[in-house]
Amino acid sequence: MRSIDVVILISGRGSNMEALLKSIHSGVIQANVLAVISNKPTALGLETAKRFGTECIVEENLDNLDSVLTTYSPDLICLAGFMRILPPNITAKYTIMNIHPSLLPLYPGLRAPNQAIKAKAKYSGCTVHFVEEGVDTGPIILQAVVPVLDSDTPEILADRILGQEHIIYSQAVNAFIQGRLSRTPV
Ligand code: GAR
Repeated sequence: MRSIDVVILISGRGSNMEALLKSIHSGVIQANVLAVISNKPTALGLETAKRFGTECIVEENLDNLDSVLTTYSPDLICLAGFMRILPPNITAKYTIMNIHPSLLPLYPGLRAPNQAIKAKAKYSGCTVHFVEEGVDTGPIILQAVVPVLDSDTPEILADRILGQEHIIYSQAVNAFIQGRLSRTPV
């Protein structure tokens, strides 16, 4: 099986990043993480990434991101709670995946679990997709369905969805590594 070079972009807690790093360190995913890049210097995920021995970079200015990425030239970029819209020069150049806490195309953008509860949805879930220009748009790779319970608060629902995110993100990256998915940046 081939191994690929990955860069992970985060903005905060980084639990999806941690799930990916765990899968990689345990050999479930055959990948090499070149760096974790955060647009927030205070992102908690940076500490977690350092514990895994991963190179950490803070780049707050999106205009500089392309030149940082160019130094790594990754096969795949994984957005893991990265809360900025990538500019077209980056989406056109790299293969990029994102994880989002809803069954896209439903509830894109911020606070997706709140949106599901407000809409009185019976089901929500999470989606891994390839990234195009736009907010949470692009071809869908994998989804997991999570029921919305009457007793759910946005926080409880978000937590239950997060458990599924950690599973399907690794599965999607693995499918890409195994050549079961292909993507030409657009
Ligand atoms: C996750 O729920 C992720 O799906 C979501 O932010 C959270 C980040 O958590 N991303 C989006 O809403 C993207 N539109 P994490 O930092 O613990 O991975």
